[in-house]
Amino acid sequence: MSQPAIGVCYYPEHWDEQRWETDIARMAEIGIAYVRIGDFCWSRLEKRPGELDFSWMLRAMDMFHRHGIKLMVATPTAGPPRWMLDKHPDMVAIDANGHERRFGSRRQYDFSHAGYREECARIVTLLADAVGQHPALMAWQTDNEYGCHNTTCSWSPAARVEFQRWLAARYGTVEALNLAWGNVFWSLEYNDFTQVDLPNLTVTEPNPAAQLDFRRFSSDQVGTFNALQVNILKAARPDLPVSHNYMGRFTEFDHFKVAETLDFVTWDSYPVGFLEMGDEPAEAKAQYLRQGEPDFQGLHHDIYRAAGRGRWWIIEQQPGPVNWAPYNPDPLPGMARLWAWEAFAHGAEVVAYFRWRQFPAAQEQMHAGLLRVDDQPAPAYHEAKQVIEELRLTGIAGEARKGRVGIVFDYESEWAWQIQPQAKGFTHVGHVNAVYVALRKRGIDIDILPPTTASFAGYDLVIIPALFAWTDALREAVTSFEGHLLIGPRTGSKTGDFTIPQNLAPDLPSNLLDVKVMRVDSTRPEHGVAVKGGGTAQLWRERLETRARVEIEDEEGFPVLVSQGKVFYVGASGDRALVQRIVGQLLEEANIVPLALPAGVRCRVRGGFRVYVNYANGVAHLAPAPDEAGYVLGDATMPAAGVTVARLATPD
Ligand code: GAL
Repeated sequence: MSQPAIGVCYYPEHWDEQRWETDIARMAEIGIAYVRIGDFCWSRLEKRPGELDFSWMLRAMDMFHRHGIKLMVATPTAGPPRWMLDKHPDMVAIDANGHERRFGSRRQYDFSHAGYREECARIVTLLADAVGQHPALMAWQTDNEYGCHNTTCSWSPAARVEFQRWLAARYGTVEALNLAWGNVFWSLEYNDFTQVDLPNLTVTEPNPAAQLDFRRFSSDQVGTFNALQVNILKAARPDLPVSHNYMGRFTEFDHFKVAETLDFVTWDSYPVGFLEMGDEPAEAKAQYLRQGEPDFQGLHHDIYRAAGRGRWWIIEQQPGPVNWAPYNPDPLPGMARLWAWEAFAHGAEVVAYFRWRQFPAAQEQMHAGLLRVDDQPAPAYHEAKQVIEELRLTGIAGEARKGRVGIVFDYESEWAWQIQPQAKGFTHVGHVNAVYVALRKRGIDIDILPPTTASFAGYDLVIIPALFAWTDALREAVTSFEGHLLIGPRTGSKTGDFTIPQNLAPDLPSNLLDVKVMRVDSTRPEHGVAVKGGGTAQLWRERLETRARVEIEDEEGFPVLVSQGKVFYVGASGDRALVQRIVGQLLEEANIVPLALPAGVRCRVRGGFRVYVNYANGVAHLAPAPDEAGYVLGDATMPAAGVTVARLATPD
């Protein structure tokens, strides 16, 4: 990849046409290289059914072209216009309580509705015909933020029929489905696929296997909906890449699987909004009120870097206060710059701010842009400009360096533990995040590994936290791996059908790991048990039967960490101190030397440069790392929201 660049989201249809030229000239003047247009403009492309007008979009595209700006055009399908409802009254999604998700905001459609899919195919075909050959066009975006506002699952009649079809294709016979789901229990057996209902509105907990299959099905519906658009766009312009914008803290569909049909992925990063909306401890919320949680962005960058097979952008970057959290703090001066630098350090090709100018009307009128409503620059305008200059100055390019440590991340595991947590608050993401943070605080570059990874070759340490069921690929990867492995807790405790494996968890051959989880003790977090040597086991404690070596045990004498050669198994959820300790031990075992980072400072290596960002509220002092040959941006004294870039002595 050549040099990374800055972009912005622009909505020509929101402004008088007379303003376009000035806006675009101003973007070009500060060096904005990419602009996304098109999301949510369907009512302007097709005012009434069949009354099409692409001329305004083409005029805007011409202007961008004259100013040398490249465009990503989004398909408008996330905002079906009002007339669509008259044509297809049953196209709206139905929530789990059986209520319609009505017109009046956005994303009211049902992924399973055949009529709406046809409408999408039609408008995408027309869009590709109308603008697909434009010289400014460099990429497409399908739709906008699949699943946003809780829209992945719909409990509609259309979804029910499609779910039954999906099940028939998966199981072949209804007997096979009954067996897989354990339907003999509570007399839940079906005689025919057409009897299968969606797993909502039941008296008590629906069958977990049915719920998991419904989650898988709903995720696949997103995938086929996306593929429909991708195929049309590819037929029109086989050479143009297609992307979709993913979200933060969002796991409702399998982003890895959906990305298989995309050329690259983007995501929408709103660090301060996410922290406000999240369940981080009050102390973190106070400390990082104006910065966002220091590892939240990094984790998402790495997940989406994996989803995009190395190619990813930020297509919406928070520029100032947003409008959608309960409270919307103003970011610390410098954060709009820092977040962009951090994304570039993790390999982003482009960081685009959302949006060019604040819109004075409607739902998002309180959402900042690079420009204020009165056209004057908002703080992020200057920061974006600064990043553009700094990118030129440093010449950072190349790819995010491959990490020596990999962490397996799996969407199905997140769904499985949501469906049957056994301990309230036990999540896959939580366990992934805990080890991610522990590693990143030590300056370790991390790669996220999807569950389709069949080889861990090249890594020194791989961590598999709270994986629900082994995939064939992961079994193979684990068996052939020569580096260090940290597995657990709860890994391999189910089969893919959501049953307990005959062999019991973690369900690995005993020559690899001689451990069986005999029973599980789950307690409220405040009833944790101290661990000998430091830390607390809490929420989840496994009673292990093992002939492996006991490395750490708790005060009650139960093994917490055991090892067999280079394979380590952790049988408890830990507090931060315990996770830090175990990760520290594994780094030592694997001969990975951490960096001594000041509190609140994070870093990552890309293309021969190490980028440091300071999330702390005060000044941080860096100790130069042994592999560095001086700073090309900033220096060892980092102010709050500061960025320092070091050049590595030996570039990769
Ligand atoms: C995103 C969305 C945008 C805009 C933005 C506001 O979720 O893609 O259309 O709503 O949030 O922060």
